Amino acid sequence: MEFEGKLAIVTGAASGIGLAVTRLLVQRGARVAACDLALDGLNALSAELGAAIVPLQADLAESAQVEPMVAEAIEKLGGLNILINNAGIGSLARATDLSFEEWRKVMAVDLDAVFLASRAAMPALAATKGNIVCTGSISGIAADYSFPAYNAAKAGLLGLVRNLAIDYARDDVRVNAVSPGYTATPLTNRSSQAVRDAFIAAVPMRRPAAPEEIAEVIAFMASDRASYVTGQNFVADGGISAHTGQPDIIALYKSARQAS
Ligand SMILES: NC(=O)c1ccc[n+]([C@@H]2O[C@H](COP(=O)([O-])OP(=O)(O)OC[C@H]3O[C@@H](n4cnc5c(N)ncnc54)[C@H](O)[C@@H]3O)[C@@H](O)[C@H]2O)c1
Repeated sequence: MEFEGKLAIVTGAASGIGLAVTRLLVQRGARVAACDLALDGLNALSAELGAAIVPLQADLAESAQVEPMVAEAIEKLGGLNILINNAGIGSLARATDLSFEEWRKVMAVDLDAVFLASRAAMPALAATKGNIVCTGSISGIAADYSFPAYNAAKAGLLGLVRNLAIDYARDDVRVNAVSPGYTATPLTNRSSQAVRDAFIAAVPMRRPAAPEEIAEVIAFMASDRASYVTGQNFVADGGISAHTGQPDIIALYKSARQAS
């Protein structure tokens, strides 16, 4: 099996993309230290996957909790091959309506925790020639309306990934990002049907990703099959970022003809 005997940390493991990654790594032979804020989600994960999971409750918005979480994971697992920095949050407000506290919280979870966890894990990863995969977002490569903190944090994450990749290449640690587009997870499923339809209409493939489809890309980047890939951002977005944003002219002509 691809990840037989591998030891991994996954943050945000109790839901959505992190849950799909955790299941996939375990199915393919890994033991996973599953970190999340949600204790009930971690309990459900342990009930499902048993001894393959080391549940670790931590609030990654609290910077002081990040390094102890990584240290405990490495101690309980007995080493580390893979760190998946996946936990993330967003906030919806234009800059003039966004409090500094909300800005800081998004930065703390989406960027500070990635820095702190990666820094703490680096010696153990160097010892195993391991790797880091960070869940970015297409919101890190272009902007969205009313997403200032999320856009900034996810763009910053890509810069951090590139830096860590070149600085630790000499230690044989690879560092990459996977940037999903619109993915059907509890995070996005909370929106109204009208909002979900509008998101889907913006995707050339006309559907959201399933979390398992993003997990496959993350697993590839974390596997030996990507052994010469470092400092990269693998976008899996159903074609959104390939589109200029300009209208489908023939579709517009057709609907105008039907209306007349
Ligand atoms: N769903 C999408 O459309 C989408 C698109 C692009 C990128 N992403 C990114 O994918 C990642 C996962 O998102 P998801 O859609 O699976 O979200 P989700 O809300 O389903 O899962 C996120 C998990 O992270 C945990 N978490 C949140 N804050 C935490 C904290 N402070 N400490 C510890 N754990 C915390 C939550 O409890 C939850 O279990 C995020 O980084 C997100 O930005 C998601």
